[in-house]
Amino acid sequence: MPGLQLMDTTIRDGQQSLWATRMQLGDMLPILPKMDKVGYWAVEAWGGATFDTCLRFLDENPWERLRAIKSHMPNTDLAMLSRGQNLVGYKHYSKDIVNHFIAAAKRNGIHVFRVFDALNDIRNVVDNAEAIKACGGWFEGAISYTVSPVHTLDGYLEYAQQLKDLGADSIAIKDMAGMLTPFRTERLVKALNAEIGLPVHVHCHYVGGMAPMNIVKAAEAGAMIADTASAPLAFGNSHPAVETIVAALQESKYDTGYDLDLLFEIADYWEEVRKRGHYKRGVSSLTHMKVFSHQVPGGMMSNLIAQLEIQNALDRVDEVMREIPRVRAEVGYPPLVTPMSQIVGTQAVMNVLTGSRWSLVSKEMKDYLCGYYGKTPGPVDPAIYKKVVGNSETLPPDVSPASLATTTYEQVKQEIGDLATCEEDVLMYAMFPNEARTFLSKHRATERVDFLLERESSQAKEDDYVDINQIRELVKVVEESGVGEITVEEEGVRINVRMPGVAPVAAAPVAAAPAAAVAPAAAPAAAPAPAAAPARPANWIEVSAPMVGTFYTSPAPGEPPFVKVGDEVAAGETLCIVEAMKLMNEIAAPQMGTVREVCLEDATPVEFGTPLFYIEPHGQADAGEGE
Ligand code: CO
Repeated sequence: MPGLQLMDTTIRDGQQSLWATRMQLGDMLPILPKMDKVGYWAVEAWGGATFDTCLRFLDENPWERLRAIKSHMPNTDLAMLSRGQNLVGYKHYSKDIVNHFIAAAKRNGIHVFRVFDALNDIRNVVDNAEAIKACGGWFEGAISYTVSPVHTLDGYLEYAQQLKDLGADSIAIKDMAGMLTPFRTERLVKALNAEIGLPVHVHCHYVGGMAPMNIVKAAEAGAMIADTASAPLAFGNSHPAVETIVAALQESKYDTGYDLDLLFEIADYWEEVRKRGHYKRGVSSLTHMKVFSHQVPGGMMSNLIAQLEIQNALDRVDEVMREIPRVRAEVGYPPLVTPMSQIVGTQAVMNVLTGSRWSLVSKEMKDYLCGYYGKTPGPVDPAIYKKVVGNSETLPPDVSPASLATTTYEQVKQEIGDLATCEEDVLMYAMFPNEARTFLSKHRATERVDFLLERESSQAKEDDYVDINQIRELVKVVEESGVGEITVEEEGVRINVRMPGVAPVAAAPVAAAPAAAVAPAAAPAAAPAPAAAPARPANWIEVSAPMVGTFYTSPAPGEPPFVKVGDEVAAGETLCIVEAMKLMNEIAAPQMGTVREVCLEDATPVEFGTPLFYIEPHGQADAGEGE
């Protein structure tokens, strides 16, 4: 009888919990062959936030990353985390997209698919489950674990049974906030074994130090697998160190049999990477340990602190921490995991920063209350419900939120067109349209420039000069790709081509080409200089940004703006969106009036207090006249 088996989370959850998911493929590759020899049940390598950060921050193709990881550790199963109907994104995708995505993940190297839904609403897991079973993957159904007056052992067992009915191969207890205690673990694992009978996999974040005790209790109670990370990426908000667990279980029937010396060699490698990148190690601070009262998961905490820093309000962190449980209770105790952690956390931040609770509500919070994310675990405070939902359309209980997303793979493929050269490109675009378009354009453009340069140099003549046609082609590449700027350096010649509207960079000396030809598409005068502030009538109301973020005039790119100058607006009517903290916050008209000024261009970054609109209010008399 083998002992407890472990899944290594170092390169996914470990780095997501401690390094803001900034680990690069190049940091991983050298050590993967050694990790391949440990004998892990699986290595969690992909999914969660890694897909997003590859595109947004690391300029990496997430699919190439997956293939590279698999090729460096062919003997170990790779696991990914799927957010159910949200896959690796933040919104619901259609069944068709889910099918394509899961099949592509399998084809590129994933075997174990851990699927969770933030609300434990099985309707958001069904499509994943079917797709995983169809392609022969291991379907691990995860219970989003939390503690609240509405979460009971029976409720968890019922959900586990639903997962089993969908064909789950194992059940994960996903304790993202470190809320499990040794005795809660024991009760839950024993009950799952007795009632469900599938292998149980425990995933407890270290946070306040409870996790190693939980794992020992889980092993005793009959769990099959537990999650750990290499010591330099363990502890704090991450997972228990694998070295601790392996040593703890020696000389027992739960002995993992893993080679501790090999594990320390691997840890030495990660320690070097950690130092080189100036990453902090996992530490359980007092704030983290207070999870036993505030229930805020580690990843959410680092995000909140970063958000408050951006909002210049780091000193309000304690108030926000107190506000979070209050908001959570008011909206039916959702487990604080993506996306609910962001939605609840941001609401708490806005409640504190505006000084007026529930005066500003993100679109996502409203959608949640209207049922579009799934069933709320407990009842919602009727006053909050009335205030936020009002007369808005809500999702009937018999309609699955998963069925609302209808965009098919073919539609997405049409939309991205030639920029996508394979199914993986299309799926990248389906997940994160803006980021993927930028990524793909850039890489397609680079490929074309490389091609052009190669052709030029193969045709090189004696006197080295830059052909005007080459420049024309470069300009075309830049124009077509949507990339702002391309710089090519070749034999002392530097060519810089910019799109209109992109701020010019300091011009480098251009040796062989006339300046006019280099930048025919050069930027016109940059942003209009701030004109001397016109005197505005004293009764105009300024609508300013309630937070730091990005100002959007319309609900989505290409759609008409919410309002334009001259429009009549009612009190509470949406004027614009300020995107902050990954959420779309609709800014509403404070009162009825006429829009007199739209102060900013679409997609402009705004600071706290930046004027967005001026509205001429209508007096009471006007208000009565009607339209
Ligand atoms: Co986790």
